[in-house]
Amino acid sequence: MESSVLHKLPFKDFDVLKIRNDFPFFNRSNHLLKNIVYLDNAATTLKPQIMLDELLNYYKYETANIHRSNHQLASISTYKFEETRTEVKYFLNATSSNEIIFTKSATESINLLARSLGKNILNPGDVILLSHMEHHSNIVPWQLIASETNAQIKVIPIDDNGDINLYEYKKLLDEKVKIVSVVHISNTLGTINPVAEMIKLAHDYGAYFILDAAQSFLHEKIDVLLLDPDFLVGSAHKALGPTGLGILYGKEAILETMPPYMGGGEMIHHVSFEKTLYNDLPHKFEAGTPPIAQAIAFQKSLEYIKSIGQDKINQHEAALLTYATNSLLQIPKLRIIGNARKKSAIISFLLGSIHPSDVGTLLDKQGIALRVGTHCTEPLMKRFNISGTIRASFAFYNTFEEVDSLKHALIKIQDFY
Ligand code: ALA
Repeated sequence: MESSVLHKLPFKDFDVLKIRNDFPFFNRSNHLLKNIVYLDNAATTLKPQIMLDELLNYYKYETANIHRSNHQLASISTYKFEETRTEVKYFLNATSSNEIIFTKSATESINLLARSLGKNILNPGDVILLSHMEHHSNIVPWQLIASETNAQIKVIPIDDNGDINLYEYKKLLDEKVKIVSVVHISNTLGTINPVAEMIKLAHDYGAYFILDAAQSFLHEKIDVLLLDPDFLVGSAHKALGPTGLGILYGKEAILETMPPYMGGGEMIHHVSFEKTLYNDLPHKFEAGTPPIAQAIAFQKSLEYIKSIGQDKINQHEAALLTYATNSLLQIPKLRIIGNARKKSAIISFLLGSIHPSDVGTLLDKQGIALRVGTHCTEPLMKRFNISGTIRASFAFYNTFEEVDSLKHALIKIQDFY
């Protein structure tokens, strides 16, 4: 049997067509834009009905602020909000719910760390280590804090396949390195970085390790006790959740030493004009009304992910990646950017010398939704000496037929040129 045929066979206990019934997106016969092939999952994932129901239920019937009023509705929303915190704790295998902080985005989580942790520990001449494949959100916050503290940023190089150069990483590590902040899965290349080894090495030099798990939260099982990062950031909307909710995990002992990031309601015990006493963890870092509806609804996303199983998600996405890689490579002049040893189901590519934006527009006309451009990783584009890529990013609800649609649409574009 041909390997492409083999890949189309369903895995045991994994029925992608049944899974698609859980997502209203796929039931779009009444929508203006019919038959969309959605391959932009690295930008944001689709949303299951179970999460949307909970979101709407909060806004329709259970609206209330949390941790403030003492009426019944407020008790329900407070309970559900905190229940999600507990679920995230279990999801990541964290030790305590105090280690889970809700923010508005993964970007805000990194800014919080730069402002609070960075400002607290960085001295002139200290080093923040980032990799060459970081998203702008894991570069710019560090530049801002480095300029305030006179710390310096050093960059861990990557090779032409898009793998981190571990040899160079080891050479860059010394006692001046205070923070290593590295992406788990590259949003542009799909590289799955060897973070377990990198975390251990950072700790050998007493540096804190921040894991940017925005792209891995849904796709890879993360056990923070096993991996041992000091901090992890994630984003709900990239894991079947609503927009506007970021996650920050931090080891409790370190979080305790960090000053608040923002001031306001809820992050305090007592306020007077003379002195303010801050609240306990995790509330110390949650000033103002948090993303209540989003957090409450996200519990359903987590429940859903667990019901499918991250191992099954991973298995189907790995098969999609193999099938898509083989299919796309059959297209003459198509070049894949990023051929790391371990990859997630993200494929960046170029189609001959056709500008990625033109390919994006022509794909869109054929009903294929994906992202083109720099993917918020301009230094990475410079590293590969390109101005952008076309990026197809897959999720467990995508089918092999959708990969075929992408391939055929690309062949049409190439023929057109
Ligand atoms: N970081 C998201 C992406 O890669 C938005 O598209």
